[in-house]
Amino acid sequence: MRIFPSLLSADFRCLKTSLEPLIRAGIKQYHLDIMDGNFVPNISYGPPVIRSLRSGFPELEFDAHLMVRDPLVILEPLLEIGVEYISVHLEIDLQFKKIRELCQQYGTKLGLVYNPDTEISRGSALLEDVDFVLLMAVQPGFGGQKFRPGVLSKVDQLRSVFSGPIQLDGGVNLDNIEEIVAAGIDWVVSGSTIFESMDPAETIKQFEETV
Ligand code: DX5
Ligand code: ZN
Repeated sequence: MRIFPSLLSADFRCLKTSLEPLIRAGIKQYHLDIMDGNFVPNISYGPPVIRSLRSGFPELEFDAHLMVRDPLVILEPLLEIGVEYISVHLEIDLQFKKIRELCQQYGTKLGLVYNPDTEISRGSALLEDVDFVLLMAVQPGFGGQKFRPGVLSKVDQLRSVFSGPIQLDGGVNLDNIEEIVAAGIDWVVSGSTIFESMDPAETIKQFEETV
């Protein structure tokens, strides 16, 4: 299991201070939730903030989860900044070919995201052209929501048609991590459980020890 802390629940007054203990604990990969106030009813941060993070932490890997109606508006800025992973939702009018081409051009890994109620079959035609799949276990837009266990029943179906990493995002905590990993999830995203804990680095250690 690889764990991606989601900065959505970090302290925006000082992201550097939030990140440093995790970096010291050896966490290299971070999940960045980008929202447009249209595809989801919330707005977080975008390329200017990610550019600052990139220049402050060149050694880290950034995983940009685009909860936006039109990824092409911000795709090139993000690719130029240099994020390692980009994921786009299946529920939008997806300009997949163009997105795929741009990601390939920059050597960025591309993921396809399924909302909790989206059927696996809806993405069948695209799965052979993506590097990873992200399954949402909550409706996207906000951290701190309750995990929907029904999402785990999608894993076997997805695995029968997709061999790359499967990531899960939303409501992951120390009580459900074992079940999530046992279901076949490779990468987990966790926001509030990590950043709202007394000791985020220790919480990650507990995640790792539990599985
Ligand atoms: C929700 C985001 C998540 C969020 C997860 O829209 O995609 O990445 O930060 O937060 P928790 O772990 O608190 O559910
Ligand atoms: Zn996310």
